[in-house]
Amino acid sequence: MESISSPHLVVLTGAGISAESGLKTFRANEGLWENHRIEDVATPEAFARNPEQVLRFYNERREQVRRAVPNPAHLALAELERHGFRVSIVTQNIDDLHERAGSRNVLHLHGDILVARSSSDPALRYPLTHGDIQLGDRCEKGSQLRPDVVWFGEPVPAYGAACDIVAAADLVLVIGTSLAVMPAAALLESAPLDADVILVDPQAHDLAPPGVWSVARAAGEGIPLLVHEWQRQSRLWVPETVIRQ
Ligand code: APR
Repeated sequence: MESISSPHLVVLTGAGISAESGLKTFRANEGLWENHRIEDVATPEAFARNPEQVLRFYNERREQVRRAVPNPAHLALAELERHGFRVSIVTQNIDDLHERAGSRNVLHLHGDILVARSSSDPALRYPLTHGDIQLGDRCEKGSQLRPDVVWFGEPVPAYGAACDIVAAADLVLVIGTSLAVMPAAALLESAPLDADVILVDPQAHDLAPPGVWSVARAAGEGIPLLVHEWQRQSRLWVPETVIRQ
């Protein structure tokens, strides 16, 4: 049961948390995403130029997401919530692995690959529980459907809501993100000054901004360690055995 005084953990996740579920990160491969240049598959210009290629790319990614399963990092976060902690997740990922692990408060900053939307009216959205999007698939207003994801160069409508969530954190846990993409990278600036921030990423020692605690481990290893400590003491704290600044 959640109590009034539950500490509020805000978790910011990036591609790294899904890496151990078999979904590739973006910047692991010289800036190529699954062997494609970002500007060929993840921009409004690419969709205007070659919609078929963009739809095919996202159809392939969607199939990968459906086959993937949550890993120990996703599962540990969901377990913490079940244990009574207030947990809010803001993810840059377009997969649904947090939800399938059991997390209930998940904000998708960059959209959701399992949703299609009208290319003329963002409010017309359609869940893709099965199947994919083909050229010629249209919304009820007659416009081509596209994935409900935020492409490079597009506004990030959920950004304000994400800032509000981060501003209400007692502790911020950042997992598996190179913090390279704006405005997501700026989210940490909304954190309260007295909230500790912990980054879990194999590259944490290089990536962590000043004042951020770092855990240089894979998410599937580091997150269960932290969650274990928090559950053991029923509070959010910075366990020195796991962490160094
Ligand atoms: N556990 C934790 N972190 C990991 C793991 C792992 N097992 N494997 C890799 N990482 C880390 C990498 O060290 C890197 O810092 O995950 C991070 C992935 O960084 P990016 O590929 O840049 O992904 P992300 O930060 O999520 O990208 C942000 O960019 O392409 C866009 O919109 C897309 O949401 C995405 C955004």
